[in-house]
Amino acid sequence: MNTVFGVFGDPIAHSKSPDMHNAAFRELGMNCTYHAFRVSPENLKDALLGAKAMGFGGVNLTVPLKQEALKIVDADPLAEGIGAVNTVDFKDGMVGYNTDGLGAKRSLEEKGVKIKGSNVLIVGAGGASRAIAFQFAKDGADITIANRTEEKAIELAAGVSKVGNAKGCGLENLKQLIADSDILINCTTLGMHPKTEGTIARAEDMHSELTVFDIVYNPLETTLLKEAKKAGAKAVTGEMMLVYQGAEAFKIWTGVEPPIEVMKKAVLEGF
Ligand code: ATR
Repeated sequence: MNTVFGVFGDPIAHSKSPDMHNAAFRELGMNCTYHAFRVSPENLKDALLGAKAMGFGGVNLTVPLKQEALKIVDADPLAEGIGAVNTVDFKDGMVGYNTDGLGAKRSLEEKGVKIKGSNVLIVGAGGASRAIAFQFAKDGADITIANRTEEKAIELAAGVSKVGNAKGCGLENLKQLIADSDILINCTTLGMHPKTEGTIARAEDMHSELTVFDIVYNPLETTLLKEAKKAGAKAVTGEMMLVYQGAEAFKIWTGVEPPIEVMKKAVLEGF
């Protein structure tokens, strides 16, 4: 029998997850299909219970459901710390995970970038920042979170400090912070289509030992990454975070390592 998987969210029409997972299932010859479902926060509990009752293999959650899910599923400690769930597994009750930070970790590791012991500067303090900050702190990086609204950075850093080293601050000393960093990660919306000229930093603020990772992937090569290349820094594009968070979810549900290149191709075809 065909096993159904899905992503719940609202809006959901433009999600790349169905293309990505269906391509992986096809490649592996697995009798599984993955669909997008428009679900509001009020209906999340019913939708999850229904999916479990109908024998779904697992679901992903996206905006605006990731936080709401914490009230419904048994979240693992990492998802609990992050305060958001993006993957639900039904094998043993209803268990929630957050694979977004792992997605970022693998995106950097595949480029040969070491996270343990490195100074990581994360700009922004929203959902993506939370996931990456908790994951990287757990993996032994020294985290600085810099955000336009300083209080949000300080509050997030206080939470992250429970699992590792983290401090929070505003954007005033960004140049100095970048000079002191090994890895710079943009977790703001600056540079995203249609305002593609936006960037948190310019080439003159960067150094050649720096790795710059932009979680914005529309456009794929953001102004920040162009500036990073000018500075001789290593530039890492954001679409692999999407691919790897999906790959980690796929592994949780099926126990199988999915074909990364096939998933990447399916995501890039949408651009
Ligand atoms: P996500 O969930 O994708 O991380 P988000 O929660 O909307 O997105 O967070 C957006 C982040 O981008 C925030 O940290 C925001 O800063 P504030 O907390 O001060 O709002 C940051 N951001 C958005 N526009 C920005 C800009 N023009 N300059 C600097 N930071 C910006």
